[in-house]
Amino acid sequence: MKIAISGKGGTGKTTISTCLTQIFLKRGKRVILIDADPDSNIKTTLNIKEEIIPLIELKEIIAERTGTTPGERAIVFKMNPEVDDIPDRFFYKNGNLLVGVLGTVRGGGLGCMCPENAFLKAVLRNLILKRNEVVIIDMPAGIEHLGRGTTEGIDWLLIITEPTEKSIDTTERIEKLAKEIKIKRIGVIGNKVESEVERNFISEKLKNLNILGFIPYFQEIKKGEIEGKTPWEVVDKILDYFNEIVEKLEVKNGE
Ligand SMILES: Nc1ncnc2c1ncn2[C@@H]1O[C@H](COP(=O)(O)OP(=O)(O)O)[C@@H](O)[C@H]1O
Ligand SMILES: [Mg+2]
Repeated sequence: MKIAISGKGGTGKTTISTCLTQIFLKRGKRVILIDADPDSNIKTTLNIKEEIIPLIELKEIIAERTGTTPGERAIVFKMNPEVDDIPDRFFYKNGNLLVGVLGTVRGGGLGCMCPENAFLKAVLRNLILKRNEVVIIDMPAGIEHLGRGTTEGIDWLLIITEPTEKSIDTTERIEKLAKEIKIKRIGVIGNKVESEVERNFISEKLKNLNILGFIPYFQEIKKGEIEGKTPWEVVDKILDYFNEIVEKLEVKNGE
């Protein structure tokens, strides 16, 4: 299963990416979790102490694979560099989990035409199309990571929304884009829901979308963050909510 996670900043994409990862690991699956949001830090949420080299910093390797020279502005470069070995060499590994960090492309984000982007996109394409593990991609609100040749490999795009107008607007915008690029299945998760009123607000505003579940607001999560604890270490029942969501993902996946 290949899952991309998007939504407005601060809605809980990283929290939810890591909770889903934890559920799949508990079910005995191998998981590759990708931090693809420049504004994010998956290491903190997962409480990983080791360094994870952002792929964008692999200057020599990027140059070698794209047929360019480090530090020189490249006009001609390979759009499909060889990257099969990258996850196993440069991702953080712990048992059945691999964690990769893309890093930030200076200026232009993932839209710009440069060897670094060709490399990062090739890594994503490789993960989505060639790996057997569950792949979970923690993305920014923009979904330009999912370009040509990768959308058909994505089983689900999950959009995380809070009970706020702004977050709902972003959700609708992302959904529209995702439909345009023909993502197969789009689901919404309502997060930080504190009351029935807030839950109904999301349901009502997004009644044409496929809402897969709601996660309550748990004050302990933020406190846990400061103490270096993962969300499920401070609120163990949080994973129950995700169990239900994963079951929906799997049912739909088998159709
Ligand atoms: N269900 C929740 N209850 C309470 N706090 C949450 C919840 N989900 C996320 N948070 C907190 O909200 C903040 C933003 O979450 P994060 O997952 O980093 O969002 P994003 O990746 O979308 O920017 C973090 O401090 C996180 O601990
Ligand atoms: Mg994040």
